[in-house]
Amino acid sequence: MADGLWAAVDGYIDAALVFQDDALRHALAETEKAGAPAINVSPAQGKLLYLLAKLVNARRILEIGALGGYSAIWMGSALPEGGRLVTIEHSWKYAALARANIVYAGLSDKVEVVEGAGLDVLPALEGPFDLIFIDADKPNNPEYFRWAMKLCREGGAIVVDNVVRGGGVIDAENADSSVQGVRRMNELIAREPRAEATAIQTVGAKGYDGFCLIRVAG
Ligand code: DHB
Ligand code: MG
Repeated sequence: MADGLWAAVDGYIDAALVFQDDALRHALAETEKAGAPAINVSPAQGKLLYLLAKLVNARRILEIGALGGYSAIWMGSALPEGGRLVTIEHSWKYAALARANIVYAGLSDKVEVVEGAGLDVLPALEGPFDLIFIDADKPNNPEYFRWAMKLCREGGAIVVDNVVRGGGVIDAENADSSVQGVRRMNELIAREPRAEATAIQTVGAKGYDGFCLIRVAG
């Protein structure tokens, strides 16, 4: 595959259009230094989340899966004065890392990291949110989608990361619980009259992947 070229073009796009600031670069560097897996969104994807937040006029954003806070910093930077982002992180180590990176970014008045498992934390949250980013353990995607539909306002958007699974998503018999998580989530989306959705395959610095975009209708 052309992974080298995809990464090079992502590098070009970053330099031409994305313009990461020091806080974002710092978050990536600290995440790498902490030995975390390199599963943060790419800079271009982070900028897409930032743009989506602005396009839905997001004042309240929810993220499931913070890792080192990189995507939270992108989305948090899109918030207006008084806006809030809540991000849920299961790992205490990554929750602490995300908090430190958010402080460095000057976003600690807007962005809150809640430590805990997504399915433990979600029932305690009060909606509505304008934008919800699901990027945690993939087997639980169906449950995360259910919660997102409860917590997202009419006209808001839900984004789900990593929905292609290297192409495994097309195989109904695939034994991978992440593949089955995405497939069961897609079945729920298809049956949900308030959800309008698509999925886009992506290539880039993170290889071959894809995301699902859902608009919550009334
Ligand atoms: C994995 C998780 C992610 O959220 C991602 O963007 C890429 C990979 C993973 O668990 O392997
Ligand atoms: Mg992801």
